[in-house]
Amino acid sequence: MDSMRIKGGKPLQGKIHISGAKNAALPLLAASLLTDETLTLGNVPHLADIATMANLLGQHGVNLSLNGHHQNNGSGGRVMELRADKITSVTAPYELVRKMRASILVLGPLVARCGEAKVSLPGGCAIGRRPVDMHIKALQQLGAEVALDNGYIHARAPKGLKGAEIVFPMVTVTGTENVMMAAALAKGETTIINAAREPEVIDLAQCLVAMGAEIDGIGSHKLRITGKDRLHAARHDVIPDRIETGTFAMAAAITNGDVELIGARLAHLHSVVELLGQAGISITETPQGLRVKRVNGLHGVDVMTEAYPGFPTDLQAQMMALMCVAEGASMITETIFENRFMHVPELRRMGANITVHDASAMIRGVPQLTGAPVMATDLRASVSLALAGLAAKGETILNRIYHLDRGYERLEEKLAACGADIERVREAA
Ligand code: UD1
Repeated sequence: MDSMRIKGGKPLQGKIHISGAKNAALPLLAASLLTDETLTLGNVPHLADIATMANLLGQHGVNLSLNGHHQNNGSGGRVMELRADKITSVTAPYELVRKMRASILVLGPLVARCGEAKVSLPGGCAIGRRPVDMHIKALQQLGAEVALDNGYIHARAPKGLKGAEIVFPMVTVTGTENVMMAAALAKGETTIINAAREPEVIDLAQCLVAMGAEIDGIGSHKLRITGKDRLHAARHDVIPDRIETGTFAMAAAITNGDVELIGARLAHLHSVVELLGQAGISITETPQGLRVKRVNGLHGVDVMTEAYPGFPTDLQAQMMALMCVAEGASMITETIFENRFMHVPELRRMGANITVHDASAMIRGVPQLTGAPVMATDLRASVSLALAGLAAKGETILNRIYHLDRGYERLEEKLAACGADIERVREAA
């Protein structure tokens, strides 16, 4: 397995191109199942999770092609064409779902289009139980019969789905996306109450509209979807990744650097910008994106993760790394996932002062972290250790970096281009 070697202490300086959003691209790829015509997606990031989704769609019968030519904004984003003129299999096998929970996103489209889907039930996961009960219940409310067969969710709606009122007891991002896609091909009207409002959900809604879906209330808690008999071809560009943007903003902050994030959108990051502002970091708009630098030291602030527009759980670990070297104390409370402090013991090994009580971590800033061999069990925890390594004295070896490759495109190249001393160490074959 590859690892990453980081020598800390270099302030990041320069420009970083922000890639297309992983969590927007995944449901957009799944949306190709809804039509027999071609869906063309631009700014698709080059990531292991995208490859997993592409494999999954391929085995459902979707023809995929990469146009190869990179867009000339330097982000490396690619154009992908997906055509599901014939669905050859409605089964999402264990081997692929096991690799990536977001595989559950094919459930809604397959039932809606084919009247049947068999999706392996995602298992436990490093950051919590993460059940899919709300996805299943919503599909049942849309008229699907759902059984659990040998570890598979088997959903059937031979006569098609029917519109219904779906009330989510808590905000679910992929749950909202699954229902939105299913409802786009259901008979009649579907209302989703307590819908997720994440920019990635809005991006999917806008693409579905371009494909001929009728969706009212986009960006609000209440979505109204009028089902159509069929959807058609469309072309859509994936939004820039707000989590990658926040991660690099914190990388600039933790190294006392000055970085321009090309293509980043302020509108998707208000809660993050506000909090980083309180911590002493300025984030300002430039003609091409956002500029990040420290203006006023680095101070401890309290953080609570929330559904959008609140502070994202996917930036919690990175924020904790930053707070490890801030002046004063910081309390970070995780409200979305019950077991998302896996980075804490590793940060401690680098000299961080952190105590955890239930869902809250108290971080007392230290003047400097020290490099250490570390490893992480999930994507965002891994990158938080990379940030800590960039600021630490001496060498950090980050193991199990396949987690990073799931969600960060060319992380080491982007950081090295801004002066970081970081390299991938390939394991000898
Ligand atoms: C998505 C993101 C993930 C992010 C998360 C929260 C993608 C591909 N992934 O994950 O990066 O961290 O949103 O912003 O977009 N829950 C249930 N039952 C369900 C579904 C969810 O209890 O059926 C719970 C989850 O365990 C969690 C909470 O609801 O505690 C929110 O999860 P959800 O928004 O569904 O996360 P994902 O869509 O899986």
